[in-house]
Amino acid sequence: MKVTHKVQLIGAFALFSIAALIYLSIPYYKNLESVIPWNGRGSEVDVQEVVPVTVDADQPQNESGDKETTTDSTVDVATPTDAAELAAESATESEQEKTDEAIEEAPKDAVDQADGEDRKAKLTQIQGKAQDTLEPKGNKVVLLTATDGKGHNNEIENLLDMVTENREDYCAFHEYKYQFTNISEFNQDGRIAVWNKIPAIQNAFDINPDAEWVWWLDMDIIIMTPSQDLASLVLNRDIMKERITYDAPIKLSNGKSSGVTVSRDVDLSKIDMIIAQDHAGINAGSMLFRRSDWTFSFLDMWVDPVYVDRFNNEQDALSHILIKHKKIREHVGFVPQRVINAYAVGGDEMGWHTGDILVHFAGCWYVPSFCSF
Ligand SMILES: *[C@@H]1O[C@H](CO)[C@@H](O)[C@H](O)[C@H]1NC(C)=O
Ligand SMILES: *[C@@H]1O[C@H](CO)[C@@H](O)[C@H](O)[C@H]1NC(C)=O
Repeated sequence: MKVTHKVQLIGAFALFSIAALIYLSIPYYKNLESVIPWNGRGSEVDVQEVVPVTVDADQPQNESGDKETTTDSTVDVATPTDAAELAAESATESEQEKTDEAIEEAPKDAVDQADGEDRKAKLTQIQGKAQDTLEPKGNKVVLLTATDGKGHNNEIENLLDMVTENREDYCAFHEYKYQFTNISEFNQDGRIAVWNKIPAIQNAFDINPDAEWVWWLDMDIIIMTPSQDLASLVLNRDIMKERITYDAPIKLSNGKSSGVTVSRDVDLSKIDMIIAQDHAGINAGSMLFRRSDWTFSFLDMWVDPVYVDRFNNEQDALSHILIKHKKIREHVGFVPQRVINAYAVGGDEMGWHTGDILVHFAGCWYVPSFCSF
């Protein structure tokens, strides 16, 4: 891909993402307001009363399941003009902030400190309010964000701050462990940064000895249904059994069937990895790993220089490994996309619906027309 072409795509993604993040943050916060007793209000409220019953990601809500109306009613539609305006606005604001900073340097420290304390107070207030009962729960679950703040995500101002707040809130509510790792720690010559997610996952197990599961989330993902715990979504063994799709073909990156399927007689006790496919095959943006010898060996192999040299990115290598290696596949549970990886758009199977745990802006920067609202 030519550099200029790339820059154009990155620009388009940035514009889209700014608009989408702002628009999405509206229903997101409404959503939070309605499920969690935030902001000093009702901290005595019984959470069991205010947290709605877990939404089954496979069951469209009582909104006729019609994607078009669902999207329209919950996510405002951003036009390219809106996106440009929003981008311009946020640029102006940040200029203003810089000026303010220069003028009032000392008070700013005080403001930062107060903000930090507000944030701590908020996190303390929601800590453990979810009162999850199903296993695995608490610090057995680690949500991992790993980035160097560069790459295409760098184009979106404050993306890391927004994503961090969203995920910290979620983890506090469920008492999961939130892990941030600066991925440049794992830089290696001749390897593009996306491969660093693999050693970052290994590292998350190493530095969180209680972790049974590590949930990898790409940077362009927002948790939309913070009341949804991971055990009742997919991690609990009984639920996992229902979620995994059997006999569904694994797709090649061109969307065609590889002819390989996940066997119906999979042994659930062997499932060490949970992942979903999109229209074009396996997507490595949201995936879960269980602590096991298998996982450690698999992660080691996945980032072997042989794969790094041979494939464009970690996702293509993963697809190759899972399609070609039956014994490895036996450790992988494929779930319907919306269970762990709903996209901003894409119809009943792919596109985010109310109640889905998260929205992933995958492909929006790469194929802007795919996400053109
Ligand atoms: C849900 O369905 C019921 C019965 O069809 C209907 O009366 C109600 O308005 C619907 N609620 C929403 C939010 O669509
Ligand atoms: C990660 O570390 C690199 C190198 O030290 C630094 O340039 C970058 O700003 C850091 N990124 C974040 C998000 O902390």
